[in-house]
Amino acid sequence: MKEKTSFLKNEICENSPNKNIIPVTTTIDSNNQLSIGGCNLEELVNKYDSPLYVLDEITLRKSCKAYKQALEKYYPGESLPIYASKANSSIFMSNLIASEGFGLDAVSEGELLTALKGGVPNDKIVFHGNNKSDKEIEFAINNNIKVIVDNEYDLKRLEEISDSQNKYIDIMIRFTPGIECHTHEYIRTGSFDSKFGFGFETLHKVFEAVSKTKHLKLIGLHAHIGSQIFELDPHNDLGEIMVTVILEAKKYGHNIQELNVGGGLGIKYTQEDDPPSIDEWIKTVSSSVANACKKNKLNLPILMCEPGRSIVSTAGVTIYKIGSFKTIPGIRTYLSVDGGMSDNPRPITYQSNYSACLVNNPLNSNPNNKFTVAGKHCESGDVLFKEIELGNCKTGDLICVFGTGAYNNSMSSNYNRIPKPASVLVCNGEAEIIQRRETPNDLLKYDVLPDRFIKQS
Ligand SMILES: Cc1ncc(COP(=O)(O)O)c(C=O)c1O
Repeated sequence: MKEKTSFLKNEICENSPNKNIIPVTTTIDSNNQLSIGGCNLEELVNKYDSPLYVLDEITLRKSCKAYKQALEKYYPGESLPIYASKANSSIFMSNLIASEGFGLDAVSEGELLTALKGGVPNDKIVFHGNNKSDKEIEFAINNNIKVIVDNEYDLKRLEEISDSQNKYIDIMIRFTPGIECHTHEYIRTGSFDSKFGFGFETLHKVFEAVSKTKHLKLIGLHAHIGSQIFELDPHNDLGEIMVTVILEAKKYGHNIQELNVGGGLGIKYTQEDDPPSIDEWIKTVSSSVANACKKNKLNLPILMCEPGRSIVSTAGVTIYKIGSFKTIPGIRTYLSVDGGMSDNPRPITYQSNYSACLVNNPLNSNPNNKFTVAGKHCESGDVLFKEIELGNCKTGDLICVFGTGAYNNSMSSNYNRIPKPASVLVCNGEAEIIQRRETPNDLLKYDVLPDRFIKQS
């Protein structure tokens, strides 16, 4: 795909940030320099170095408020939006979403601990995972965190723990509803062939097994059909299917009070992307669940949804510094930046596309300046953009990549022993560090040289 910088002129959708490529506070000043949250991006790099993750607080809060308000507007019963912390997990993010009245979904002890440290109330946290360790399950139970049971192995261990502690435990069951949606196969989870959740056809056995346990109380159902979804129909179908499963569970004596429809709403990474708004998405799931309950004369369950990407992605950008250029005549010019697959593994993993521009002179894109933007890692596939049109640029100039708030920092690695970038929060002209930059020495912290090797050297 050929990327251009014309997206900077798009009208901003204030109440559904996922429909924008850029954070809602993005401006280009009279000196032709890019700012976000009132902070000049070049000045941020001068102070905090590059690559640098930048998160815009206003965009984040607008996304949270859009979910809250739409649930209040469209769902006649009680509701709770839950932030999928895998999208970007930090003490700061946990704190921000808690302040917006969100719950949080975690999939490891690390994410659970981060949520608790950030101040998310334990009764608003749910614990997911297709292969939870015993230690993680115990951590969740000891902290009174609700467990979403994914498979028979989970069920068996929860039964054992609840019996051994003589303690009643509320659980939710995750199942695969058999819904196909058009997204990358790695982020599609709702079809029958998925590693997550109980198969739809096995649910009757699961309900029977739970009803035979002494201490497990089945209070909720969960399904998540995939991520970066632009269609509304799959979630309309999901609401209806989940209500039929409430009816099935009832036959085994289970009173389902909570319905969690997962996340999945897509965002606009490039001009070609046109996701529905948060309002439209919530309207779809709310009316599908409410209508199906009405049809079946069921009390409305508490409606939960688990957005990740559409909360945090558009609020985040990554700033890189340009280093080397290499022109292969008649083929392409590589422009290398000081980060790449270690801070953003999505392009090499999912062939994901992004939009980007120069930090200084952002609107200037010259059709003769076509570049392949390469990362600095030892992989030929470490390419952030196959082809992008930029203005005139040289070594030392800065590039801003948009839409990197989700699944970048949280999926980052130390490949090639490259330290992770710092993250700064910007708001009203102030910038605050929310995650410090790693140093090469930090990366040595867990290396151990056994004594006998020390003696040899
Ligand atoms: C169980 C579950 N819930 C929620 C999410 C969040 O999805 P998204 O970031 O697309 O909103 C995911 C993402 O993979 C997930 O696996």
